[in-house]
Amino acid sequence: MTQVPDPEAPEGVDLERPNAARIYDWFLGGTANWAIDREFGERAVQTFPMIKTIARAGREFLGRGVRYMAEQGIDQFLDIGSGVPTVGNVHEIATSVNPDARCVYVDNEPVAVAHSQILLEREGVADRHAVLQGDLRNPADVWPRALDTGVLDPKRPIGLIMVGVLYFVPRDEPALEIVRKYLSLLPSGSYFLSSHLTDDGVRTSGDARREAIHKQYQKSSTPFHYRSRAEFAEFFGGLELVEPGIAWVADWHTEAGESSAADRMADDPSISGGICALGRKP
Ligand SMILES: C[S@@+](CC[C@H](N)C(=O)[O-])C[C@H]1O[C@@H](n2cnc3c(N)ncnc32)[C@H](O)[C@@H]1O
Repeated sequence: MTQVPDPEAPEGVDLERPNAARIYDWFLGGTANWAIDREFGERAVQTFPMIKTIARAGREFLGRGVRYMAEQGIDQFLDIGSGVPTVGNVHEIATSVNPDARCVYVDNEPVAVAHSQILLEREGVADRHAVLQGDLRNPADVWPRALDTGVLDPKRPIGLIMVGVLYFVPRDEPALEIVRKYLSLLPSGSYFLSSHLTDDGVRTSGDARREAIHKQYQKSSTPFHYRSRAEFAEFFGGLELVEPGIAWVADWHTEAGESSAADRMADDPSISGGICALGRKP
């Protein structure tokens, strides 16, 4: 389907196919999405009604992870695959714990970057917040540009965040090598927060609705790819895992009544298909 060019769309935006950043924004109730993304989202909800709750649970995990790191004294964050700004942005959560916290956002989707820029111009502080368009798969480009912003001090611990993004790296690309490259650049005492979609250990794995949603995404501009629990654990090789180690997103540092999304999955947290962990570099 060819769409009429939209004068509101930032340059480089693909409006021919739905895109994960904008679909995710729609799932979370945002407005940085186009008709093609909303149509995809509505079809996805029909296919798999839990999907909005799952998106919310993933976002809430991000918030709890950032708060945890900030409470451990981490005051600078590099959030790669940061998405469209929505409820509970990393810099807002970090700042609520430490008003001096710093954050660099990176995303490869022009809409996500443009909206982050607008948000930071409105409420950010130039020397403490920045956003850049970059591809996670290219640390040799992303890392120096993130440092060039002047926001991060590479000699002090950094909270590196890749939440809900590594599953966009195709299985035939060296995701592990990419993550290890970033980790090798971080100073001791840094943290790595991540989550990933899996079909490993999911009680309803093989469920027709789950398979259908996976197939729908393969037709978008941003197909996702499962990795096993063991493959996800490899990303944390050499790091000290924070308790409870590798967990379902709805199970990581959640308390009953605190999160409606996690509460809705209390009977079967595996329904999210989202595993997560936080590791510390010794
Ligand atoms: C599902 S959203 C997650 C957003 C946010 N991290 C969160 O957890 O709420 C995934 C984001 O990763 C971005 N993304 C996908 N592949 C990427 C890549 N290779 N490099 C940078 N960002 C990427 C997408 O554009 C999208 O904004």
